[in-house]
Amino acid sequence: MTEAILLVGGQGTRLRPLTSNTPKPLLPVAGVPFLTHQLKRAAAAGVTRIVLATSYLPELFEKEYGDGQKVGIRIEYISEPQPLGTGGAIRNAAERLACGPDEPVLVFNGDILSGLDIAGLRDGHRYSGADVTLHLTRVADPRAFGLVPTDGDGRVLDFLEKPEHSADIVTDQINAGCYVFTRSVLDRIPAGRVVSVERETFPGLLASGAYVRGVVDHGYWLDLGTPAAFIQGSADLVRGLVASPALPGPPGEALVLPGASVHPGAQISGGTVIGEGARVEDGAVVKGSVVLAGAHIAKGALVHSSVVGRLAGIGPGTTLDGVVIGDGAEVGADNELTPGLRIDCRVVLPAQGVRISAARA
Ligand code: GTP
Repeated sequence: MTEAILLVGGQGTRLRPLTSNTPKPLLPVAGVPFLTHQLKRAAAAGVTRIVLATSYLPELFEKEYGDGQKVGIRIEYISEPQPLGTGGAIRNAAERLACGPDEPVLVFNGDILSGLDIAGLRDGHRYSGADVTLHLTRVADPRAFGLVPTDGDGRVLDFLEKPEHSADIVTDQINAGCYVFTRSVLDRIPAGRVVSVERETFPGLLASGAYVRGVVDHGYWLDLGTPAAFIQGSADLVRGLVASPALPGPPGEALVLPGASVHPGAQISGGTVIGEGARVEDGAVVKGSVVLAGAHIAKGALVHSSVVGRLAGIGPGTTLDGVVIGDGAEVGADNELTPGLRIDCRVVLPAQGVRISAARA
């Protein structure tokens, strides 16, 4: 039996307004809640029991997965009335583990899409005798991440959270958000208070002389925490750039879910998903985007690298580029919404309300 803890209690503030009604791990990515990809990958790697550490909108997780039968893994739930941070949440969830003190426990952040060999990470941890093993990945610009330099044998030397000065950027290896803890090590995290695993637990383990091991994986890795990354992750799954046992259909240029309608004169491409019951009208072009259930894209609209929330409407001739439209928002005709804009849930924009080029007469 392999057990795991999945951290899903964050508020997902960087993805607002998409996360106003739905926790980040339950947002649909390539047609299914993102968590379904993670749970099915964990099941395929031999994880038999998983504890979901919830805090924000906790009831929605149990409603979606119940005992876990549909994803092939036994699911337990534990909720923090007040968020305990990543380390506090892990310690809290440990109360529900059944394994012995020397057994490996996998811990996953609930917003990472990766092609990691999960079973390999667990088995390597077991054979190495490490206290903790971290999945590391290399990124071109590591400034927004926690840096984890290692020696030639993979022993972690330091933890540098989000370095501000270029002198502190000593490596391009970052904490990729998946760990294996030996159970007894996990049980030593202080209970009942806020703890950051990145800022407190890992540096504390190093300071006490623990064996902390880093494994650099060169495969696909993406943190879906921002709108641009969320859209990219969904498109990459649809196009098969990263494999998932939960993809509802063969990889391709677009995924049209049951009950959606796409006019033959519309173009959808770039890994776009058209959600259940959504409608795309004649002449609309939807590229590299996520159109959620029940949304409506009117004639001649151009939707590029954007998310259109549930039951939202995009008027005729409107262009969206790198935009997030909240659930139930209505964007009137001939608007031009440019990168970075977020339209809140149920907001109504009149025709030609927002433009960068001169309005039509
Ligand atoms: P932002 O608010 O946009 O930074 O997103 P987030 O709230 O998800 O935070 P972050 O990306 O740093 O969290 C990493 C992972 O830990 C995510 O899977 C979160 O759901 C989870 N997480 C963060 N804080 C907590 C917490 O206090 N409790 C629990 N249970 N999970 C947490």
